Amino acid sequence: MPSYDFLVVGSGLAGLSFALKASERAKVAIVTKDRIQETNTWYAQGGIAGVMNLDVDSFDKHIEDTLVAGAGLCNHEAVSNMVYQAPRLIQELMNYGVGFTTKDGHLDLGKEGGHSEHRIVHAADATGREVENVLATKVKSHPNIDVYEYHFAMELITEHHLGKKVKYLPKIHCFGAYVLDIEHSKVITFSAKKTILATGGAGEVYAHTTNPNIATGDGIAMAYRAKAKIDHMEFVQFHPTTLSVPEADSFLITEAMRGYGAVLRNTGGEAFMKSYDSRGELAPRDIVARAIDDQLKKRGDKTVFLDATHLDEQSIRNHFPNIAQECSKYGIDIAKDWIPVVPAAHYLCGGVVVDEHGRSSIEHLYAIGETACTGVHGANRLASNSLLEALHYADKASNHALDTIHLAPIQNNLPDWDESGTFNPNEWVLISHNREELKQLMWDYVGIVRSDLRLQRALRRQSLLYEEVEDYYNRTRVSPKLLELRNLISIAYLIIQSAMARKESCGLHYNLDYEVHGRTIS
Ligand code: FAD
Ligand code: SIN
Repeated sequence: MPSYDFLVVGSGLAGLSFALKASERAKVAIVTKDRIQETNTWYAQGGIAGVMNLDVDSFDKHIEDTLVAGAGLCNHEAVSNMVYQAPRLIQELMNYGVGFTTKDGHLDLGKEGGHSEHRIVHAADATGREVENVLATKVKSHPNIDVYEYHFAMELITEHHLGKKVKYLPKIHCFGAYVLDIEHSKVITFSAKKTILATGGAGEVYAHTTNPNIATGDGIAMAYRAKAKIDHMEFVQFHPTTLSVPEADSFLITEAMRGYGAVLRNTGGEAFMKSYDSRGELAPRDIVARAIDDQLKKRGDKTVFLDATHLDEQSIRNHFPNIAQECSKYGIDIAKDWIPVVPAAHYLCGGVVVDEHGRSSIEHLYAIGETACTGVHGANRLASNSLLEALHYADKASNHALDTIHLAPIQNNLPDWDESGTFNPNEWVLISHNREELKQLMWDYVGIVRSDLRLQRALRRQSLLYEEVEDYYNRTRVSPKLLELRNLISIAYLIIQSAMARKESCGLHYNLDYEVHGRTIS
């Protein structure tokens, strides 16, 4: 049985950053279900928000922008703590060797929706790739870190697995996790003093998403089954602009393009954003996504366009080389053509509830990055605050976990995974069909605009899928696809239930049957 001080699940910015810090004084395992770089982090484009030029910007402005985007539901103290740490955390990345784009010897600061100043530190339009590659290389050569690629964390181990009734316990403890070694189809028991969920988001629960296939909400689903507190799941962020070409698989067109001056137009050529919000293209994302949705529905169109043709041709290509290259695959020249765009699911604001140290409601279990609900995003995340949140909570959690490691003894008597009475799967079609069905129902009924009726329909269909898949799961040997489907069904349940429980429209949660809280769309 592998035994570690810290078991980190996930190899995105949150997991890698935690591991690098914690390994200074502890032995760390990272388990990750794909190759190390296959993360949401790798696909991040726009950058990391941080106040880097105090001559024009201020911490108060970044805090205020974050609170405004969060529509009244942010935790002010959590936001403030994070914003003040941003310059130090960004400098640490540069010390690791991350190369951000500079101009005249200074960091080139971009602007995105909801930001009142230029404060987005970026590596051209592929920031995540640069950060992930540098950190992954460091982690892989670190003597105190063991990386287990293609290892899928299935269940958190708690008193439940020791045969105790957890509902009668004053506190549940986490002792590690059951992990499927995908290559050898073997379940391994990982024992750890502390377990850190850094499993990212859950965009895969929607038919159209900017997220890679790994984003199936596994950490949140595992924590939910282990009875951790989960919150704010109704706040799913839809990114306004993804490439509207079927083969492009919702490729993101960064908000930084709008920050650079690109304009949204409908099929009639009208620049419509100012009629929805005085901030126009740079209004917070929920407003821009709903405005586009409104245009599509009102006009019966399938797409709107992002127009950068009035901007300097060479500088547009220099700033957005990755996007220029991707669009050119579909015959679109970003400097000469309008880019067809539609919204897609992008980011989950809710997740495992944690305190200021990243601690969940289960003892010795932390959650960091997109998996966590820290209070910094409230009802809507401000652009480029996500990578910052991952860095900040990895920092806080690693300090806390190291300081309290002596309070968490290793459990040596953990039982092996019990797969008696199960058979090899013989109904793959059930798994693939149900995944597609779930994604479509979430897109149609629990998307950008919701209603009580749509949510009720979604819940009825979700319950059928739940029953079918639980029955199949109980009889079948575990496989990554089955585990993901089961987790996605739990995520769908949590989003629908949270959406039904919120009797108002607020931030990213917009229900036609309730008034908008805080501000209105038009
Ligand atoms: P991730 O980077 O998603 O990593 C999750 C890890 O967990 C992966 O390694 C995954 O394989 C692993 N994992 C999941 N489940 C399991 C399991 N069961 N067992 C083992 N391993 C598991 N944010 C910004 O701030 N700025 C941006 O410019 C920006 N651009 C974005 C562009 C795109 C296209 C996307 C999709 C997101 C963007 N975001 C951006 C959001 C941001 O990238 C993510 O929120 C952030 O990277 C999350 O980091 P993370 O470490 O929490 O999770
Ligand atoms: C983008 O580059 O538009 C994405 C930024 C983010 O999700 O924060």
